[in-house]
Amino acid sequence: MKLEQMKIVIVGHVDHGKSTVIGRLLSDTGSLPEGKLQEVKDRCAKNAKPFEYAFLLDALKDEQSQGITIDSARCFFKTQKRHYIVFDAPGHIEFLKNMVTGAAHAEAALLVIDANEGIQENSKRHGYLLSFLGIKQVSVLVNKMDLVNYDKQVFESIKKEYTEFLNHINVRPDAFVPISAMEGEGIINFSEKMKWYKGKSTLDQLDTFEKEKQVDDKPFRFPVQDIYKFTEEGDDRRIIAGTIESGSISKGDDVVFLPSKKESTIKSVESFNTQTKTSASAPEAIGFTLKEQIYINPGEIMVKKNEAVPHVSSRIKVNIFWMGRAPLIKNKAYKLKIATQRMGVKLVDVLNVIDALELKTVAKKEQVDRYDVAEIILETSKPIAFDLIDQIAGTSRFVLVDNYEIAGGGIVVEGLSDAHTLLEEHVIKREQVWEKGGVGLDEKIVRNKHKPKFIVFCGEEIDQKIQAARLLERRLFENKHQVYYLGLSNVLYGLDSDRISEFEDMDEHIRRLGELARIVTDSGQIFITILSAIDDYDIEKLKILTVPNDFITVLVGENIFNTFVPDLSFDGNNNAQSIANSVYDLLEQKEIIAIEYNI
Ligand code: GTP
Ligand code: MG
Repeated sequence: MKLEQMKIVIVGHVDHGKSTVIGRLLSDTGSLPEGKLQEVKDRCAKNAKPFEYAFLLDALKDEQSQGITIDSARCFFKTQKRHYIVFDAPGHIEFLKNMVTGAAHAEAALLVIDANEGIQENSKRHGYLLSFLGIKQVSVLVNKMDLVNYDKQVFESIKKEYTEFLNHINVRPDAFVPISAMEGEGIINFSEKMKWYKGKSTLDQLDTFEKEKQVDDKPFRFPVQDIYKFTEEGDDRRIIAGTIESGSISKGDDVVFLPSKKESTIKSVESFNTQTKTSASAPEAIGFTLKEQIYINPGEIMVKKNEAVPHVSSRIKVNIFWMGRAPLIKNKAYKLKIATQRMGVKLVDVLNVIDALELKTVAKKEQVDRYDVAEIILETSKPIAFDLIDQIAGTSRFVLVDNYEIAGGGIVVEGLSDAHTLLEEHVIKREQVWEKGGVGLDEKIVRNKHKPKFIVFCGEEIDQKIQAARLLERRLFENKHQVYYLGLSNVLYGLDSDRISEFEDMDEHIRRLGELARIVTDSGQIFITILSAIDDYDIEKLKILTVPNDFITVLVGENIFNTFVPDLSFDGNNNAQSIANSVYDLLEQKEIIAIEYNI
């Protein structure tokens, strides 16, 4: 039978004995390569240096690094129950980086404290880091008991003090084990020296750690990677492709897409080069077709309707580790990647900062500097879907991109209710300082003989949409209205286009358009533009940005919205002229323009 595997991390203050504990675990479980122990002992004797178990690690590291570069020192040993991979957390930076970005993931931790030196500031920081990383299974090894004559009182007082601290930061240690790594006491078993201790040895304690639930036992999460459309020969299949992060799903299951909240039912499971399947589970890369054809975007998470669903929020409290050369600052746009979602994000508030180099708390800061570990509040440009780290790690971990580079990583701790978004705050401020010209809008309306209006054509039927928008522009112009048509690329490539980054396009596009619409409608004109892949949240943003005015939405093609209802909707069968005419009629009905009398 194949033994299960568990990843653990060992942390502790400098010199408290981490490497010695690992060396002991390797050698006492017989996990060392044949002759290694003797080889290292001989070398020490030759150099007239006392042998240390910690040297074993260095010897192994040298060997390993010949072939591959190793980020964290990794060692392997096994018990009858399972294989262990242990990460020695040497440089905290690499360790933290790997942990927060998900490159390394530990299911449990051993925290080493020197009985003689007692609890040091770092022992506390490490406890904090474990809680930061969401590692819930922790055992504390009180090491070097030989230096305190295996005294029960010393052990008990460290246990009491440290338990209080850990409980404070929500870490509940499974056990405290008194050991002497040097003497091999309490690693696998105990001699007579600590008869007063009734608990388990280090190794037995490790075996009591529970394996994390297998990913396929957890609620279903399917971050949508791509949507493939087949249009050939009447085939109108639309396959939603991606990799199942957790859980399993079958044909006929009801699903919800988040954050859009659109619902459908699994019609088929589409796998490549295999026989037809009716179900799939993590970590398969797979595709699905849906019963009800709905419009969804890559980045959404498909979940099962009858299971616990992810959180959806645009304000999130996160724990972050920052490694960017430039600090993380407010009022700057970053990109957040979580599962397959890509989203613009801004720093709202810095709650708590720890300098990871020094591992000390820093006084209240306004920004997050390189190698800071911080608890912060972020606001994404649209709501995102996420889980909490102890539920499903893959949809909880995120990275922040600054200027095309991964500059930070972390986990979402909590979704906050969105009170006032940064965008709303911006608009309130903008309207407060809006400088009016000498000619009022009311005067312009009288002169123009029509009111200003912002008209947005959206939907997938691109040619038809553009044609209709231009025909409307033409007819309004012929009838002596002030009208302006703005093409898509005019905003994308004009207007400070250097600022548009790889990911920012849609967010930034909406932002610019909203600001422009505010100005152009203030000039009294009817402002027509076209947009493609927008959703309910984009409409919401446009609404906020175009305050105090509003706009008319014309949908050409299949419905791309969830709950938002456009003013006018047309399927692909209407011709452009009739669409333009209908919009013209609507403008008359809404008394934006005067009714046209044909004499
Ligand atoms: P860093 O990697 O530098 O943070 O240290 P570490 O935590 O890995 O400690 P290491 O295992 O290197 O041990 C530090 C020193 O403590 C070494 O000289 C060890 O021999 C000694 N030491 C470790 N465990 C014990 C113990 O149980 N008793 C005694 N007396 N000394 C120990
Ligand atoms: Mg060490």
